[in-house]
Amino acid sequence: MKILGIETTCDETAAGIVENGKKILRNIVSSSVDFQKKFGGVVPEIAAREQVKSIIPVLEECLLDFDVRHIDAISVAYGPGLAGSLLVGVESAKALAVSWDKPLIAVNHLFGHVYSNWLGGETLPEFPLVALIISGGHTDLILVKNHKDFRWLGGTLDDACGEAFDKVAKILDLSYPGGPEIEELALGQKTKTGIFFPRPMISSDNFDFSFSGLKTAVASYIAESKMTFELRRKIAFAFQESISDVLIAKTLRASQKFKVSSVVLGGGVTANNYLRRRFSDTFEKEQINVHFPLNGLSVDNGSMIAAAAYYQRNFVDPIKLSAEPGLYFE
Ligand code: KG4
Ligand code: ZN
Repeated sequence: MKILGIETTCDETAAGIVENGKKILRNIVSSSVDFQKKFGGVVPEIAAREQVKSIIPVLEECLLDFDVRHIDAISVAYGPGLAGSLLVGVESAKALAVSWDKPLIAVNHLFGHVYSNWLGGETLPEFPLVALIISGGHTDLILVKNHKDFRWLGGTLDDACGEAFDKVAKILDLSYPGGPEIEELALGQKTKTGIFFPRPMISSDNFDFSFSGLKTAVASYIAESKMTFELRRKIAFAFQESISDVLIAKTLRASQKFKVSSVVLGGGVTANNYLRRRFSDTFEKEQINVHFPLNGLSVDNGSMIAAAAYYQRNFVDPIKLSAEPGLYFE
């Protein structure tokens, strides 16, 4: 079964074609991040305008020399996300479904990040599993018992994980998006930094997170220090260390409590290699398989939407589907 997946929830315009929920046949992603760089973050109006400009070229490239008769269904991320951006993908998917007379499958964007781990990997995640979604807009810990049973365990009380990276990067005079910048700066740090930032809520008796205090701690440290390149590098490393400690501790506690055999990570922050290494080391000791999206699939993409659609089959009437910016978990 071949499914076309469309993703326009934020600042990426993306389309992919996936066979049987696993094999990527096409994956086209266009990002307006260069525009967002100028403003230091995503401006919803600009993101929506770029979605309008990009959707037809992205779909054309995705479908180039592909016989649409071989597409069995259209899928689209219908929320959560930015209203103007979402509308572009949802309306395009509805139009294609009606004009090509194909079934339409609605996908929760966050489930798409979970299913990015089913794409192209050698070993597939096994149920029950714990999923950690960490992106610019989300930090969510989810218990997944099967393809239909997703239970939200906790999330951030303030900034999202990627947002914390972006804000700390700004304080360190790095450009947007801040995650890759912080990772690169921290790479040169080979010894202990001697800096210890707080690990907010690391021992709290729930699966929630809070990152705004960490950002404030970094800002206060910088305000009291004489900045040098070496110190900026140490701060970047110590921040990454602190945020990783919290993410690992909470994910580990959830996986032990629910006795899962797999942990999957998704969302832009999982592109971070330091974080990947730390997760792999920890979970290997616990004999729990940890899965990350393949290269390039951590960020928003259409293939993950098509993969989620294949396994979840949430068929909808194209006439009735609406974008749901505030969609979360049932
Ligand atoms: O999933 P994503 O592309 O878009 C959202 O749905 O938000 O995530 C973007 C976020 C940004 O906050 C960005 O700074 C962060 O992912 N990010 C990273 C890295 N690459 C992207 N954070 C840490 N390390 C990275 N290498
Ligand atoms: Zn996302």
